[in-house]
Amino acid sequence: MARHGMFATRDVGSLISGTTEEGTRLKKAVSVRHLTAMGVGAIIGTGIFVVIGEGSRIAGPAVVLSFVLAAVACAFSALSYAELASSIPVSGSAYTYAYATLGEVVAWIIGWDLILEYGVSVAAIALGWGGNLNAFLDAAFGWSLPTAIATSPEDGGIFNLPAVVVVLAITFLLVRGVTESLRVNLVMVVIKLLVLTFFIVVAFANFGTGNFTPFAPHGVDGITSAAAIIFFAYIGFDAVSTGSEEARNPARDLPLAIIGSLVVCTVFYVLTVIGAIGIATPEQMSASDAPLAAALDQGAGLNWAAAVLALGAVVAITSVVLVIFYGQTRIFFAMCRDGLLPRRLAAVNQRYGTPARLTIILGVSISVLAAFVPLGTIVELVNIGTLFAFVLVNIGVIVLRRTRPDMPRPYRVPWVPVLPLIGIAFAVYLMADLPLDTWIRFVGWMAVGLLIYFLYGYRHSRLRGPESRRS
Ligand code: ALA
Repeated sequence: MARHGMFATRDVGSLISGTTEEGTRLKKAVSVRHLTAMGVGAIIGTGIFVVIGEGSRIAGPAVVLSFVLAAVACAFSALSYAELASSIPVSGSAYTYAYATLGEVVAWIIGWDLILEYGVSVAAIALGWGGNLNAFLDAAFGWSLPTAIATSPEDGGIFNLPAVVVVLAITFLLVRGVTESLRVNLVMVVIKLLVLTFFIVVAFANFGTGNFTPFAPHGVDGITSAAAIIFFAYIGFDAVSTGSEEARNPARDLPLAIIGSLVVCTVFYVLTVIGAIGIATPEQMSASDAPLAAALDQGAGLNWAAAVLALGAVVAITSVVLVIFYGQTRIFFAMCRDGLLPRRLAAVNQRYGTPARLTIILGVSISVLAAFVPLGTIVELVNIGTLFAFVLVNIGVIVLRRTRPDMPRPYRVPWVPVLPLIGIAFAVYLMADLPLDTWIRFVGWMAVGLLIYFLYGYRHSRLRGPESRRS
């Protein structure tokens, strides 16, 4: 241990050896194909199918540039994630990297922060799933679920049944085993790429250039503000790193999967957005809860295609729920194993090889949240939390190069510290574009987290426990 107190760090070697302890050992069953599918599975969802509407309202047709800007901003941090994930292939993603580099309290802050990116966003994504399901039922059969059981109290309903159903179904899958879950994910990923390809082909077949002018009605400000929201569409490539402990060949596969999934999604997004503007106005898209379906329906006049797309969105969002939820269980798992949260929760079920107890507790909590909470401004809160994690991951790369220069790094970010510093600058730039309310909620959330750390985590941390004193 390099330091004591709340800035104590965990040794990278002990982190890696801790993954083979009896009782909390995860199966090493995940291949590069599954890892990349995990990234694509986490990335393509509510962002491209729903948030694009808000983005086009803010930026106009120049939302295309917002998508590019958000992708570039992510690219620098993706490199840092790749370096840390391949050098520290331990469950927990940014949380674990911070523990090895910046100290326990920073690790806790990140872990707590990641609940915004993962746990809270699962509830939001599930709500989007329910909305899209209803849109599909309406488009295909002219019938949809009654408001009372399809929306939160704030939106005039009683509770959101579809959101609860999808969260509990995914909980069941994740308890049964990661291999099974990711196999289901692979099928859903193929379907969602086909659906986006379908959209792109139909859109380009009906393409016109009229909607592209005026191109940037709200100027550069509009483009950057939209990018801060659109950023949501890219969240997920980092989720690959939460599965690193279960990767078969982390050194090679993690960098490939992290960067590969980001590149694949960026190409699909840019083509999708250009196609969408080619057939529909930004106003048509932003007025709908299912903007891409609306573009096909109102923009191109193809109702049948809109129904296909709505169904595709339901499938796409299902896999986002799966992967992001998976990520949350693995981060919690790492935090429990380290004693910052109750350790008995990290027990791995002997039959399934998964942290079943933890998964069920999270599933029930998230479904309660999804039942009653409105979608509202959750996207912004998720974004600020994720961008903050990116900042710390980039700092982690720089710090670890100094404190552990000789550590084996199967993948190395070029030009350190320049590229990680650019990653930080982009993240801060996008964070600064988010509303003040979001900042206030974010600071409040982090303050509650710190309170929990000082009341529980600091005292129960494994770093201060009897095992650590013995060694
Ligand atoms: N990137 C994910 C989505 O768009 C979170 O749904």
